[in-house]
Parts: sequence; C-alpha cells; structure tokens
Amino acid sequence: MYLLYFQNKLGYGWLDDLVYIGDVNISIKIEPTNNGVVINQLTRKLVQNQSQYQTYMQQGNIAHTPELEKSIVDLEELRMLIQTNQDKLFLVTVFITLNAKSLEELNEKTLILESELNKKTAMARVLMFRQLEGMKTMLPFGDTPIPNYERNMVAGGVATLIPISNPNLSHETGVFIGRNMFTNAPVYIDTFIGPPSLPNPHVFICGTSGGGKSVALKTLTARNVITNGSGAFFIDVEGEYTNLCHKLGGKVIKVRQGETTGINPFELEIDNDGKNDFINILDKVAEIRALLATICRNYMGRTLNATEITEIEVIVNQLYTEREISSDVNSIYTKSGGKIDNGKYVIGKIKKKMPTLSDFQHKLKERKNCPELSQLLVTFLRGNSLGIFDCESEISSDENIVSFDMSEIKDEFTKLYASFVILTWVWQKFVLKNKDKKKIIVCDEAWLFLKYQESAEFLVNVARRGRKYNIPLFIGSQFIDEFLNSEERKNYN
Ligand SMILES: Nc1ncnc2c1ncn2[C@@H]1O[C@H](COP(=O)(O)OP(=O)(O)O)[C@@H](O)[C@H]1O
Ligand SMILES: [Mg+2]
Repeated sequence: MYLLYFQNKLGYGWLDDLVYIGDVNISIKIEPTNNGVVINQLTRKLVQNQSQYQTYMQQGNIAHTPELEKSIVDLEELRMLIQTNQDKLFLVTVFITLNAKSLEELNEKTLILESELNKKTAMARVLMFRQLEGMKTMLPFGDTPIPNYERNMVAGGVATLIPISNPNLSHETGVFIGRNMFTNAPVYIDTFIGPPSLPNPHVFICGTSGGGKSVALKTLTARNVITNGSGAFFIDVEGEYTNLCHKLGGKVIKVRQGETTGINPFELEIDNDGKNDFINILDKVAEIRALLATICRNYMGRTLNATEITEIEVIVNQLYTEREISSDVNSIYTKSGGKIDNGKYVIGKIKKKMPTLSDFQHKLKERKNCPELSQLLVTFLRGNSLGIFDCESEISSDENIVSFDMSEIKDEFTKLYASFVILTWVWQKFVLKNKDKKKIIVCDEAWLFLKYQESAEFLVNVARRGRKYNIPLFIGSQFIDEFLNSEERKNYN
C-alpha cells in the first residue's frame, strides 16, 4: 500500500504506465477546495518563502535560492490564476495497492513500482502498520480514512491523473477480443475505426500450426458480423470455414478441380479514384498479368518475357474494346434494357457479357506470338483439370457472407491459383460495390501467396487498396519469416 507524493511537472496519462505492472489498484481522491481559504494559504506560503529567500541572501547561502525563486514565481502565478478564477485548486491523494501471489512477486513488483515512480519524480510512502486503513481506503465508499497526505493540484494537474492514454490499446468501439493478460482489462478492437486511431485496418495473426490462428480469425470475423453487420469473405484453403459461414447465414462455394465455379477473373466492376467512378481496365491488365506470371513461374520456372507481357496487355485491352467497354462507367452495361437470355425481363441496367479465359487463350493462340503460354493455358480452360474459372460470373453480388472452400484441391499451387483468382474477383464483385458497407476479407494460410514474387506483390496490392477503402484484410499464416523477410513487406508502408 502506497501513498503517492509528487513533484511539480507531470505528463498526461502518466499513471497509466503503472498499470503495466499488472494487478495494480489505483484509487485517486480528489477534493475541491474553498478558494478563499486556498488564497490565504498560498499567501502565507508565499510570505514564508519570500522571507526565507531574504534570509538566505543576507547570509550569502546560495545553495537553495534558485529553488526558492522558482517556488515564489510559481506561487504568485497560481495565486493570480485562482484569484482571477482562471484555475481551481484541488487536494489530491493517490493510493496504490499492489497484488501478488507470493512475497517474492510482491517484492519484485514493489521494485518496479518504485523505479517507475522515480522516473516520474514522484515519491511513494509506504503505509507501514496501517494496512487495514489502506485497504479500507481502496474500497469504493469515498470516505478516505487517511488524511493529511494530500497534495494540492490545479485542474491541469488533476487532468494528468485521468487514464487517457489507454494502456490496453483498446478501442472504444468494435468487438471484444479478450482480456489483457497483465491488467485483466477487456480489450476491444475496431478494425473500421480508421486513422488516426488505426492507420491500417488489416489484422495479421501468426503462430505455429494448431496454435489457434484460424479460431482467432473466425471469432474476430463472426463478432464483427454480429455486432456491426459487416460482410465477410473467406478464402478458405482448408475447408474449415464452412460451418461458421452457414451459421452466419452465408453461402459456401465449393471449388473443385474440373468444375467451373461461376467466378470469372475478367469480370469488371465500377471503381472509384476518390472523386469519380470509372472502369479500371489498367488495374485489370495488371491483375491478369500477375496471375499469368505466377502460373508461368510455377510451370515453366521463369517469369514472363517481354513478348508475353506485351501480348497480355494488347489482348486484354482488345477483349474489352471489342465489347465496347472503356473507362466510361456506362460501357459495362448493354444499351438496350429489357429481355435477357432466360426469358425474364429485368428492370434497370443489364451487364454485358464479360470476356473469359477461353476468349483470352483463343486470341493468344490466334496471334501466334506466345505459343508456349497459349499451350500452357489449355489446362486452365473449361472442361480441363484447372478450368475452374473459365466461365461467366454466376454469383449474385448481393451475397454478404461467402466462403470459398478449396479443401478438395490437393496441390499447393492450384490452391494459390484459386485463392489469387477468388481474391481478385471478391475485390471486383464485392469490395468495390456498396462502399459504405463494412466488409472483411479473411485469407487464412496466406503464406501461399509469398511463394512467388508475383503473388506476393498481388497480396501487397490488395492490402494497399484495402487500406485506401478501409477494407480490413484478416490474414493468418503459420510462417512468419516469409512475411518478415519479403521484399514486398519492406515496400508496404
Ligand atoms: N482460444 C482457444 N481456446 C480453446 N481451444 C482453442 C482455442 N484456440 C484454438 N483452439 C483449439 O486448438 C485447435 C487448433 O486451432 P486452429 O485455430 O485450427 O489452429 P491453427 O489455425 O493455428 O492451425 C483447434 O482444435 C481449436 O479448437
Ligand atoms: Mg488454421
């Protein structure tokens, strides 16, 4: 049990540091004073100091005079502030109790507390033989039985005692993620809070296999969905989010080799550059290039050559131009509204049919500039083993919670390829739409992306754009080294 006695200069939230010691109770007694009485007291103290100063000066004793000079100036200023009603004086006592499981721990904590206080030029007095009184003081009854330890403080000084700088890094809003191990205080995180509280909305969870990463991702996402109605998209490599997705009322899309999924990487949606809506064909070209470069790395052990890079750019642009799709927002819709293929009338805008991977491969083959790449892409066409994404988009963009289950895909590269396409597509189809709606993208086992430079860059791009749109990317990975050492991480700032 301690009573705190402090010196004159203190920073805001300075008591917060003491909470880090763990299992500490801090009780602060603040009493307003009667201004008339305070002014009399201050005047008496001032006169005392002034006469002391005179005496020292006459004796030629200069050791204490600078201290007294400062004290006189401070007292005069304080008296003036109170006289003119600019400030108010309070009597403050701070009581601290340390709790510990053993005497050893208590002694250790005592040393830490004393050194913390020394750093702040505050001094603690131990309530030797008065423990019971001290314990009573800490109870929330407001009748402090230990008088005469008060320290006077102006309003600004009292404000420094308020725990404003939060030692738990907890947000005021958001979802509960657990308790602080040392202080036992609840910790909340609001990934949507935005700057300055959180300049970056993303969450990265790492740990050994079986350490609880997926459970943490699931809990955090589910709590967000339930408390703030946010949407959630799971890139589920292991097929372990199906249950959760069903429970949250979402849709599970099973990705199987040899079957199309209704996801088209060539799908375009309206983007926004901060001012205007537009169709971002440039980004699409970059995405397709990154995707093909990753495929190329895996199957041919090399990166794209100059001809291939140019061909990709030319063909992707051609595919959209042929469909009269440009940067103009209206260009992705057909001119005539009305009837669509299945006989139903649709009111409003109807989207044009987007190009598919087949269209791309046909053109690549026709142009004969990149026979190797065009041959390689055959495996990725509809009907072949990797023809998962060679199709029109069939999934409604009204879905709010979707899990992409890739558990049936066995090899690592196909999982990466599928994650890559799905992430691009989720971005186009869901993230860019309904911008005011909260959404979370969960990408478990994200280390897959770091296997190739191109896919790593792609993940960094998603993170960068996510930050711009305040869309959190929840990432889980059992390998932290890849993330820490990757060039892409170093470039992400
Ligand atoms: N906070 C927790 N409390 C109790 N059990 C947990 C907790 N977190 C994880 N587990 C259990 O640990 C096991 C592995 O967790 P999981 O999240 O799948 O690990 P990881 O994704 O890191 O490999 C699961 O069976 C899960 O039920
Ligand atoms: Mg896991």
